[in-house]
Amino acid sequence: MVRRRGRTPAAKTAGLAIADGGSYHAAARPSTNVRKHDPVIPKIEDYYEADAFARMKALADTKETPFLVVDTATIARHYDELIGAFPYALVYYAVKANPAPEVISLLRDRGSSFDIASIYELDRVLGLGVGPERVSYGNTIKKSRDIRYFYERGVRLYATDSEADLRNIAKAAPGSKVYVRILTEGSQTADWPLSRKFGCQTDMAMDLLILARELGLDPYGVSFHVGSQQRDIGTWDAAIAKVKVIFERLKEEDGIQLRMINLGGGFPANYLVRTNDLATYANEITRYLEEDFGDERPEIILEPGRSLIANAGMLVSEIVLVSRKSRTGLNRWMYVDVGKFSGLIETMGESIKFPVYTEKTGELEEVVLAGPTCDSADVMYEDHKYELPLNLAIGDRLYWFSTGAYTTSYSAIEFNGFPPLKAYYV
Ligand SMILES: Cc1ncc(COP(=O)(O)O)c(C=O)c1O
Repeated sequence: MVRRRGRTPAAKTAGLAIADGGSYHAAARPSTNVRKHDPVIPKIEDYYEADAFARMKALADTKETPFLVVDTATIARHYDELIGAFPYALVYYAVKANPAPEVISLLRDRGSSFDIASIYELDRVLGLGVGPERVSYGNTIKKSRDIRYFYERGVRLYATDSEADLRNIAKAAPGSKVYVRILTEGSQTADWPLSRKFGCQTDMAMDLLILARELGLDPYGVSFHVGSQQRDIGTWDAAIAKVKVIFERLKEEDGIQLRMINLGGGFPANYLVRTNDLATYANEITRYLEEDFGDERPEIILEPGRSLIANAGMLVSEIVLVSRKSRTGLNRWMYVDVGKFSGLIETMGESIKFPVYTEKTGELEEVVLAGPTCDSADVMYEDHKYELPLNLAIGDRLYWFSTGAYTTSYSAIEFNGFPPLKAYYV
């Protein structure tokens, strides 16, 4: 029996609790740890290396807004840092975070594997020369014919969290490796929770892995995702403790030796709300694995999206209009040429608080930030008080920092006739 040390009481008790009903409306909660003493206008050096910012800015100055500019060298640095922090893990990049060929090719060349959500992502990744042995079909919600599509192209690794899906996999992808996604805690502390829609209870996970063997599949392991931009590292502790129970019980009671744990994404990007740095995540998670599995650590898979890409990108917008709603109105509304439907969907519920930068200086005043479409949902920030210079005017640029992930891929194709968000890769 491996000794468990240094856990918080919360983590201990959370071990086998039922996951709660998290939703993405996390931001309805007040943010208690916004950087209180930082200047209100974010500092470039808190978010980008000087040379990376210079490269992006040089390109940005030549282009018409709105667009995203991404510094690929920053992605490479983040990937190398991740591998350095988790030298024992295999990385499956979550393509949904940013499916640009530039990003996929770069990570392909650095040795990454890929977590794929659909046949379309699969086509793109295979089309860029990635072998099917480097692909995991990580979406638990999939059509039988899509499973077959993956299988025919050589993919042999599948996630599941339900009996119907598992039976589909057994038919359409016979003999493949399967891992079962479990429900986890963490929706209260993730800026973008993912736990309610995906995963199953521990007992069901065990049933599914036993059934997988009966169906001729290879019961390979267990996965979880503690929620994207997860600020509480202890959520991995609770999740790994659940996995440990599954490993032990299946081995002892059913003679099934699982071999893999997929720790998901959830690793931090740098936004307004503070997180620990990646090294702290890695040290803690490594300690949890050691405490639970000792020398018999299974294969470990990571599925990072946001943490690799977000801080490599900068969304550049232009102010379309500044107005107030009455002669004496105190609220200044600032409408820009990018919004919820052109890349900033993660401002939904004000969940992700992107740092907003301007080159103008001077007296600051609170502002409501809204997008350009004729939809009243297209307001990015109203409750959280962004402060921007009073002298900002129509035509001035606003720079949305740390927007490399989940922006282009979320952008609508022609809502209100606006084209999808353009992106440039330097
Ligand atoms: C299955 C799966 N893996 C990994 C990720 C990436 O998570 P993150 O962006 O928090 O790293 C996601 C995000 O939705 C996901 O659904």
